[in-house]
Amino acid sequence: MYDNLEHLGLDALDVVNLRVGGFDSPTPGSIAEPFTVLAQLQQEGLIKHLGISTVTAEQVAEAQSIAPIVCVQNFYNLAHRVDDDLIDSLAAQNIAYVPYFPLGGFSPLQSDKLEVVATRLGATPMAVALAWLLQRSPNILLIPGTSSVAHLRENIAGAALTLSEEDLSELNSIAA
Ligand SMILES: NC(=O)c1ccc[n+]([C@@H]2O[C@H](COP(=O)([O-])OP(=O)(O)OC[C@H]3O[C@@H](n4cnc5c(N)ncnc54)[C@H](OP(=O)(O)O)[C@@H]3O)[C@@H](O)[C@H]2O)c1
Repeated sequence: MYDNLEHLGLDALDVVNLRVGGFDSPTPGSIAEPFTVLAQLQQEGLIKHLGISTVTAEQVAEAQSIAPIVCVQNFYNLAHRVDDDLIDSLAAQNIAYVPYFPLGGFSPLQSDKLEVVATRLGATPMAVALAWLLQRSPNILLIPGTSSVAHLRENIAGAALTLSEEDLSELNSIAA
C-alpha cells in the first residue's frame, strides 16, 4: 500500500479492492479483519474508495456493515452467471459490478449461438459478449484484457453494438 503510493507518486489511491477468494470462486467466511484494515487506511485518507473481489453476497453485506463499498469485482460473463442476483442487488444500490474474465479468461468464450448473433450483427463474438455485459445492467464496468491492439479495437467496438430482444434471448440461453 505505502509502496504503491510512493511508486505512483500519489497521496491517496482512488479505489482499492480487497481480494478475498480463490482464482475463480469465492471462499466463504468472515472478511471483517482484513476489510477493517482497509477501512482504517481509508479513514487515514490513504484510500478514497473501497471495493472487494471474489466474494459471496454474504461477504459483500459484511463489508458494507463495516464501511461503504463502491465496487465488486467477481468472475462473470454470458456463460458464467452465478452472480445474476448480486448484480441486480448492487445495481439497486448504485454500486459498480466489475466482471473479471468477461471474455472467459483462460478459456475464451466459444458458442455457436454467440457466433450466430455476431454474424448477424457483422461483429466479432468477443465484441458481442462485451455488448451483452453492457446491456445486462447499467452498473457493469468492463475490464477485458488483451495483448493485441487489433483485439482492443474489436472489443471497443462492442460498446457501440445494440442487441435486439432476439439477440438477447439467444445469448441468454447460452448459460441456461
Ligand atoms: N479480481 C480477480 O481476482 C481477477 C481475476 C482474474 C482476472 N482479473 C482481471 O480481470 C481483467 C480481465 O481478465 P482476463 O484478461 O484474464 O480475462 P478476459 O478479459 O476474459 O480474457 C482475456 C483473453 O481473451 C483474449 N481476447 C481478448 N480480446 C479478444 C478478441 N477480441 N478476440 C479473441 N480473443 C480475445 C485475450 O487474448 P489476446 O491477448 O490474444 O487478445 C486473452 O487470452 C484483467 O484486468 C485481470 O487482471 C481479476
